[in-house]
Amino acid sequence: MKKNTLVNHPPAVQLAADNRPLVAPIYQSVKFSFDDTGETLRYLRGEREGFFYSRTSNPTLTQLQLLLAQLQGRDGCLLTGSGVATIAASLLSLCKQGDHILAFVESYGPTRYIVQHLLAKFGVTHTLISIEDLPGIERVLREVPTRLVIFESPTNPVTKIADIEHLTAEARRAGALTVLDNTFAGFHNHGAYDIDIFLHSLTKYASGHGDVMGGAIIARAELLAGMRKDIVSMGPTLDPHAAFLIQRGMRTYFLRYERQCANALAASLFLRDHPRVKHVHYPGLDSHPQHRLARRQMSDFGTVVTLELDGGFEEGARFAEALQLYSISASLGSAESLVMPPQLLAGGEYTPDQRAASLITRGTVRLSIGLEDAADLVEDLRQALDQAFI
Ligand SMILES: Cc1ncc(COP(=O)(O)O)c(C=O)c1O
Repeated sequence: MKKNTLVNHPPAVQLAADNRPLVAPIYQSVKFSFDDTGETLRYLRGEREGFFYSRTSNPTLTQLQLLLAQLQGRDGCLLTGSGVATIAASLLSLCKQGDHILAFVESYGPTRYIVQHLLAKFGVTHTLISIEDLPGIERVLREVPTRLVIFESPTNPVTKIADIEHLTAEARRAGALTVLDNTFAGFHNHGAYDIDIFLHSLTKYASGHGDVMGGAIIARAELLAGMRKDIVSMGPTLDPHAAFLIQRGMRTYFLRYERQCANALAASLFLRDHPRVKHVHYPGLDSHPQHRLARRQMSDFGTVVTLELDGGFEEGARFAEALQLYSISASLGSAESLVMPPQLLAGGEYTPDQRAASLITRGTVRLSIGLEDAADLVEDLRQALDQAFI
């Protein structure tokens, strides 16, 4: 074998069956090969296990899929290259022309965009109401044949809590599927509810370090089987190296989530008592209007704390810029703390009624609380509030 041939057929290294790595290797390979055509055909006909092409399946992804499905309490999982890819791919797969979707004003912006603009191009209609409008949810589901309901809890940024039992019961009665973007609450929450499909951005708590993007669609086997063919054909799969990093992040998922929630509670208690803060939205506070519902539905309350400043736009920007430990940036759930001033929360394509329901005002500031020391985080909030109101 010439050396230029050798570099394309490097020596294989086999491990004995009784000699295993404690961390699974990254199968950074697009292709897998069987020994002969017959076995390849048996695989392609679904008659044997194996791997062939990484857009369809890859062992590094399989390990993460098994873990996430088990944590969320469902049969299986599909992985995508980002959180929004789970939303676009699953809605495109589940809906056809003429279907109707129930979605909510408080939903993540790109989710509303996909429903209002992308799916509308294919003749899918929708109704957009507030997640707090329980009579509206009943009315729509009883009067309009609906394919699916897509929602979040807690919502972004003001942490409203969806009444999941009510919503799933109404949807089930109407024959509509429920799709919960569970990114804020995490894999350990909401699994006991009658949800058909869970979506997660793995960019947030799963990876945890702000260095990789990904998404997960988690559902029972027969639903997922129907979606798999469509979604594999759309091609949004996760790269094996990204799957490895997310798998590594998952080892500390519970420790991080628990600590970040404790920090979020400390920050929200400080802010609640500060004279320049008109209101704090955090479901873990007993002053949150849905605190009891949150306690019933969740084992902890997440790491997003949103506040209404006494002033408005300018004070919000000054506050965000004065913070030393919170970077002005999008996203949430990573190890470091972040802040979104009113200027960055103001968009959203809302009508005046929808804006009122969103509860986002000119003084709204969103914090994503990280893993820093709680006392340092609180002290930083104190000094930044002092500077914002000089
Ligand atoms: C609730 C929610 N869903 C989905 C996403 C999208 O995730 P990604 O940024 O991984 O596409 C986000 C991102 O902020 C989010 O907050």
